[in-house]
Amino acid sequence: MIFKRCLNKFLSLPLRQKFILSFLAVISLGGLLTLTLGTRLEHRTIISLAQAKVQHDLASAWMVYNEKLNDIRDIVRINSSRESVQHSLKVNDRETLLKYLGRIRNDFKLDVLTLTDARGKTIIRTSRPDFWGDNQSDDPLVERALKGEIVAATQITPREELIRESNALAEQAYLEILPTPKAAPSSKKFEENGMMLKAAAPLVDENNKIIGSLYAGILLNRNYEIVDRVKEIVFKGERYKGREIGTATIFQHDLRISTNVKQENGARAIGTRVSQEVNHAVLKEGNPWIHRAYVVNDWYISAYEPIKNIDREIIGILYVGMLEKPYIDLRNKVMITFTGIAVLCVIILLVILFFITSTIIRPLQNVVVATDKIARGDMNHKVEIDFKDEVGQLAQSFNQMTEALKIANQKLIQWGKTLEKRVEERTKELKDMQDSMIQSEKMASLGKIAAGVAHEINNPLTSILINTHLMMEKISQESSFQENLNMIAAETSRCSDIVKGLLEFARQNPPQKSYEDINEIVNIVISILEKQVTLKKIKIIKAMKEDLPSIEVDAGKIKQVFWNLIINATEAMPEGGTLTISSRLSKSGQFIEIEFTDTGVGISEEQKKKLFDPFFTTKGGGTGLGLAVSYGIIEQHQGRIEVKSRLSEGSSFTVSLPVDAK
Ligand SMILES: Nc1ncnc2c1ncn2[C@@H]1O[C@H](COP(=O)(O)OP(=O)(O)OP(=O)(O)O)[C@@H](O)[C@H]1O
Ligand SMILES: [Mg+2]
Repeated sequence: MIFKRCLNKFLSLPLRQKFILSFLAVISLGGLLTLTLGTRLEHRTIISLAQAKVQHDLASAWMVYNEKLNDIRDIVRINSSRESVQHSLKVNDRETLLKYLGRIRNDFKLDVLTLTDARGKTIIRTSRPDFWGDNQSDDPLVERALKGEIVAATQITPREELIRESNALAEQAYLEILPTPKAAPSSKKFEENGMMLKAAAPLVDENNKIIGSLYAGILLNRNYEIVDRVKEIVFKGERYKGREIGTATIFQHDLRISTNVKQENGARAIGTRVSQEVNHAVLKEGNPWIHRAYVVNDWYISAYEPIKNIDREIIGILYVGMLEKPYIDLRNKVMITFTGIAVLCVIILLVILFFITSTIIRPLQNVVVATDKIARGDMNHKVEIDFKDEVGQLAQSFNQMTEALKIANQKLIQWGKTLEKRVEERTKELKDMQDSMIQSEKMASLGKIAAGVAHEINNPLTSILINTHLMMEKISQESSFQENLNMIAAETSRCSDIVKGLLEFARQNPPQKSYEDINEIVNIVISILEKQVTLKKIKIIKAMKEDLPSIEVDAGKIKQVFWNLIINATEAMPEGGTLTISSRLSKSGQFIEIEFTDTGVGISEEQKKKLFDPFFTTKGGGTGLGLAVSYGIIEQHQGRIEVKSRLSEGSSFTVSLPVDAK
């Protein structure tokens, strides 16, 4: 459960962190394994090296030990073979013997130097001259000497024997046993016996007869000569951080009787005992024991070997130990260096890893950034391709996808625009159609009324005009009514003009069509009108498209339309201006467009709405029928009239006539 949660957490980490964590885990695991194995191996190597050395040191210690034993042996050998000694013994010259042997004892610092007769009875005891006559034939060394052997060995000397030699010697051997942790259980409180290096040799007369024995000994208890010599020769008094590196000890059984291992208080650790483990291995089994051991207050790399007496019985232990600390420190130093190098390697690896992941992840990040940009609509963004690996292929596919997306998007936008334009066009067409329908209906109904009214008014107007003329003829020329009658005649003919216009507007007779050149019709109208005074202030620019197709029109009616448009333009430019008349084929090619553009007063939006209504005029003498009639004519030709205008800038009227009217 927890593992799953951790895994999920790990999987949702960013890619780079995932990479680094995985690598770190692998490196750490590998590093830890190497470190553990390395440390173990290194520990073993160093410790086994130390053990080999301590073993070698023990051999050296044995040499010092045996050298001492040999010294004693040599002393008894040389002195037992002296003629003077043999002679003095023969003649029982105690005084000379005592003097001579006493000097030897002192010179060689012997604890014991005793002469016996052929049966083993003591004759001269240098350590205690007044005590003699006891039997030493039980002593295995004396026993062998009396049989002619020169022998030397380590020996346990009982307290009674020590007392016989001297009280001081017994005192030197006496040791209180100190409580020692880890030692074999023992109820013994003190040790009275001593351990001696002892040698014995026979005294032989000229007939080769054994006449006595000479034996010498050095008590090892509290005698530090050997252990200190070992320290001096083997370890050369080396110290480590104020402590002596090497130590040596002589054990009597399991008891330290001579040592340079120090207690906390600085005193030599005599009276303490060996551990149960060593006791068992060395004293009971008789094997050497080489291991690390906690000696008194510190760890030592130790070597123990049994000390045997002349009968090969184990009576003690010789020990050499090296302080473990220098080796442990060396081991730690190597370990720290090793760990340091490992950590450095991990850091270097991490840096390399950082750059590697960067190069791997950067292109991916580029893809992510690109996705984001494209999602926001930036279709031009491209992912840079550095390498042709999987990521590079992904980037390439991505770029291809973006390109396809871009094209699709552009098409969509284009399509949208076209649709919009089409809708706009259709809407305009519809509106135009609607407008023209409204206009046509208006015209149609107005036309009917106009036709009725005109018909009714025309006859009375004619009779008014005829009667007015009659009255004018009848009364004299000077009559004051003449002027009034003139006005009636003028107004009546104006009414008649309106009625004519109305009838023209209302007349729905079909046009008489024939194929005509539109440019020619325009030119004819212009040439007629040019002569008019009103047109003299106006500049006419013609921009006619040549080679326009001939189209089917009623030339008379079309002339009337153009006429109306040109007149209106001139009337819009009372101060003069420019009238541009142009013709062209429409974009679709289905219409011929004739445009009349003036630089006149222009038309307001309000006026534009009523422009084609009959009777809409802004002019004093106008009928307001010109455009209404023109509209009707163009409609009869399936064409249309369009107006564009800006107030005080000018207006533009465009007549469109179908090329192929069906
Ligand atoms: N080119 C133009 N510039 C400015 N206003 C114009 C132009 N053409 C027509 N108009 C306006 O449209 C009105 C209607 O024109 P329409 O030709 O139908 O009648 P009219 O010119 O007023 O009278 P009539 O044509 O009987 O002399 C005009 O009174 C005028 O206000
Ligand atoms: Mg007009």
